[in-house]
Amino acid sequence: MSDRKPRAFRSSAWFGKRDKDGFIHRSWNGRGLPRDVFDGRPVIGICNTWSELTPCNAHLRQIAEHVKRGIWEAGGLPFEFPVMSTGETSIRPTAMLYRNLVSMDVEESIRANPLDGVVLLCGCDKTTPSLVMGAASCDLPAIVVSGGPMLNGKYFGAEIGISHLWKFSEEVNAGNMTEQAFMDAEPCLSRSAGSCGVMGTASTMAIVIDALGLSLPHNAEIPAVDSRRYALAHEAGRRIVDLTYDDVAMSTILTRQAFENAIRVNGAVGGSTNAVIHLLAIAGRVGIPLSLDDWDRFGRDVPTIVDLMPSGRFMMEDFYYAGGLPPVLRALAERGLLHKDALTVNGRTQWENCREAPTFNPEVIRPFDRPVVEHGGIAVLRGNLAPSGAVLKPSAASPHLLRHRGRAVVFENIEHYKARIMDPALDVDGDCVLVLKNSGPKGYPGMAEVGNMGLPPKILQQGVTDMVRISDARMSGTAYGTVVLHVTPEAAVGGPLALVRDGDIIALDVEARRLHLEVSDEELARRLEEWIAPATTVGGGYRQLYINHVGQADTGADFDFLVGCRGHAIDREAH
Ligand code: FES
Repeated sequence: MSDRKPRAFRSSAWFGKRDKDGFIHRSWNGRGLPRDVFDGRPVIGICNTWSELTPCNAHLRQIAEHVKRGIWEAGGLPFEFPVMSTGETSIRPTAMLYRNLVSMDVEESIRANPLDGVVLLCGCDKTTPSLVMGAASCDLPAIVVSGGPMLNGKYFGAEIGISHLWKFSEEVNAGNMTEQAFMDAEPCLSRSAGSCGVMGTASTMAIVIDALGLSLPHNAEIPAVDSRRYALAHEAGRRIVDLTYDDVAMSTILTRQAFENAIRVNGAVGGSTNAVIHLLAIAGRVGIPLSLDDWDRFGRDVPTIVDLMPSGRFMMEDFYYAGGLPPVLRALAERGLLHKDALTVNGRTQWENCREAPTFNPEVIRPFDRPVVEHGGIAVLRGNLAPSGAVLKPSAASPHLLRHRGRAVVFENIEHYKARIMDPALDVDGDCVLVLKNSGPKGYPGMAEVGNMGLPPKILQQGVTDMVRISDARMSGTAYGTVVLHVTPEAAVGGPLALVRDGDIIALDVEARRLHLEVSDEELARRLEEWIAPATTVGGGYRQLYINHVGQADTGADFDFLVGCRGHAIDREAH
């Protein structure tokens, strides 16, 4: 517990008054509570993305109870509140369409209410960035408690994770797996509460948040159903009360150094390409200048040392038992790849938290001289096909395709792809480059995870398991392949991707960070004149707001009017 000095909290503007306003605030919010809870103690919000429609977060109601225990114990007053929850597997057309909307819900809920600090309960992919973005725009003290990963899948004696879904699906298409065996895997894959157990976007974001310093050590990796996660939630409840007394706002933690740490950690764990877009958006909320090129600058030479699917062999449950994130941070720090002094929410620096962290399984957390991939991180590609950048995850790609030249097979949108890909007459071979347009932020809209297009069955049947694929879409963090994503500007705004035609030659050179369409500037200019922009009117509603205001992938795809920190001051009240 910090050395507490009495202070007037923000919530005293609601609960501290002795007039009719104070009366109604205490009377209404105090239902079922003793009157002395309004003695000036800090009020802590527990922002909960619990929902039965978000199975990965379905246990967050119980987690919230443990957070409350800690808050009460430390002398705070907890109030749990819901925000929109985005379940990655079921929400349509794509959960990313709603990330910015949820962030608005979070920001406005925090600012509008008598809160002095907040604990953010999240887990499934978009729930983490949306809560952190929203809270960062208010800049109160905050701690993230993640739901944690699910248990490893078990299928006829083998350990399986969600990455096997892509593999199994392709095995069925290739005729190597029966449909019955595919169906039998269903209940074996998702055995417990929690987020996907591989290094997908949910685990990546939880780790990146830990690397930013916004959570307690081991928050990312303790399995969802492990009793130690509930103890961590309890400790987070205690700690957020201290943070409010010490007035440690999120911006104190979210420094430029913290973001650089997060980028390097993402490389070391083989994290998802989705971290790029979310971290850029979070940085935008706190006014930290972070660019796409920073991902290459700080992540390029970081070896991936955590051997987790989809890049490697193990899963998050194994990662925790092997020591979890602290020994990874330690390894980075010992090689000068971590800002040791970056502050974390437990009041200690990253180095103080990790300097004695042991590794229990050097197969899961490998030594630096025996990495999973020597150059992990995210490759940022540029060229006439992506003037503002594109990304590729080298650790998930096939080494022989990292330098490749091939003939484009173009799909105008995801429906066009679905209509053509199974056609045996499709003019495609294993050296071709599959190109998908109109799947970016405005084009889809919502930048869906469709970039890892499945290969044509006739190619799979030839034993080919990977092809170069290029799009303005995203890719699930659980997926793999030589997949170029986030091509910017996107096709729907007239980016060069819109101009690619069947038969064009595309050259990819990851080492040189180059993505080039071998078509002359004159021809591209001519095609641009002929180009007809897709309709961007969708009949109003939230989708129209999204299309009108979403930014491009290279800056985080946030809404233009949401970028920045608006603080937590409220200068008017209606009573
Ligand atoms: Fe929720 Fe993967 S679907 S974390």
